[in-house]
Amino acid sequence: MFARRIAVVGTGYVGLTTGACLASLGHRVICADVDEKKIERLRSGEIGIREDGLAELVSEGVAAGRLSFVVGAAAALDELEREGGRVEVMFLCVPTPMGVGGIADLAAVEAVIEEVRDALPAGVVVVNKSTVPVGTAVRTAELLERDDVVVVSNPEFLREGSAVHDFLNPDRIVVGSSSQDAAERVAALYARLGAPMVLTDAASSEMIKYAANCFLAMKLSYVNAIAELCERLDADVVDVTEGIGYDKRIGQAFLSPGPGWGGSCLPKDTHALLQVADSADFEFRLLRATIDTNTRQYQRMVDKIRSAVTGKRTGSLTRERIALLGLTFKAGTDDLRDSPALGVAALLKQAGADLVAYDPGVSADASTIEPTLLTVADDAYVAAKDADAIVILTEWPEFRALEWTRLRELVGRPIVVDTRNLLDPAVVQRAGFTWVGVGRTMRGALHASF
Ligand code: UGA
Repeated sequence: MFARRIAVVGTGYVGLTTGACLASLGHRVICADVDEKKIERLRSGEIGIREDGLAELVSEGVAAGRLSFVVGAAAALDELEREGGRVEVMFLCVPTPMGVGGIADLAAVEAVIEEVRDALPAGVVVVNKSTVPVGTAVRTAELLERDDVVVVSNPEFLREGSAVHDFLNPDRIVVGSSSQDAAERVAALYARLGAPMVLTDAASSEMIKYAANCFLAMKLSYVNAIAELCERLDADVVDVTEGIGYDKRIGQAFLSPGPGWGGSCLPKDTHALLQVADSADFEFRLLRATIDTNTRQYQRMVDKIRSAVTGKRTGSLTRERIALLGLTFKAGTDDLRDSPALGVAALLKQAGADLVAYDPGVSADASTIEPTLLTVADDAYVAAKDADAIVILTEWPEFRALEWTRLRELVGRPIVVDTRNLLDPAVVQRAGFTWVGVGRTMRGALHASF
């Protein structure tokens, strides 16, 4: 006996994770996508997304008969009906890119609505899971033109790379609707997870998603600014963040300085909320400063690299060969969207540097990176050959395990700029390198005793 009959439309990382996880909670889930090839691949067990635990969950769901894949949203409804039931909840997990003036481009939502409008049974709940501007639930309901169908906002808080873990261990579930009954029905889908539930109206629910991501971005820009100040005042940012993080109101998470924050969510969402604030005639200075601090962070990393390599704060890096370790926006993904590593690389290139990069998630053959920007190498040792500096840009754990004595033999000059404070400086220094971190004192970095 299945708990609920659910259609999930869109099999990107949000849709597929949602579908597979809801199936693992005991629901009957049919995932639909317009891309026939993708559905074919999913049916043969190829998930095409780098997500811990997702492939296993998909195959368990399929084997248990709780999860299947079809082409098109209407086919998902038909299939459920053929099984003797009717769809009870339909999740919309299709792309909603930001259009002009901060308004979401709802073309994909519109296409799905068009396809299912007449086929949706009365009483079904349509759930918007994609990150959408405030007001989209109302807009979706208008597009649907069905008084007997309720649209609910239920934002996701999944991090790329740990989406399955985040889905199954949520800090909270947020459901927004004008209908309490519909909100409660959606909340009940997650009952087994035992998370706190925030039931609210749709606009507040949509706002929660933006407010959360913008707060996270602000926290990171703040910590990057504190790291810069630590450098000027000879304080150690790792000790400082540990010291503030014990305050439960601040928390230890999301306090690591780096080359800037990026990815497919924080940059998009901060810009979107700023645009929305502008059009609501609200000058959101704090958010603007959050974004500006992040853009400056790329340049600050370049200044740091320049001064480590040339001893000067300004000037050219012409003919300096820089090995970049890490290109993805964070470790554990193959995602290059809005990656700070690429932002730093572009500025280094502008300053005249020759760039060779290695990233465990980016294959040299299949890389989509412009070859005029940098060359992608097959391993870190090839990238480091004759380099004037090695720069760590993404926090891949495997970089810690590199043979630094071997790298010392390969490089032109033994300099490591560690923009993620990833490495153990004692190991790197023992191999003969100069190590430069972010916001760190050597005393703190080497755990020197008082
Ligand atoms: C982010 C949010 O964390 C999720 O809660 C949200 O659901 C998701 O966006 C989304 O809107 O879909 P994600 O984009 O996967 O998740 O990435 P994060 O893990 O948040 O990292 C964002 C950036 O901050 C990365 O560039 C990362 O390297 C950087 N970061 C993170 C730091 O520089 N320091 C930290 O301490 C943490």
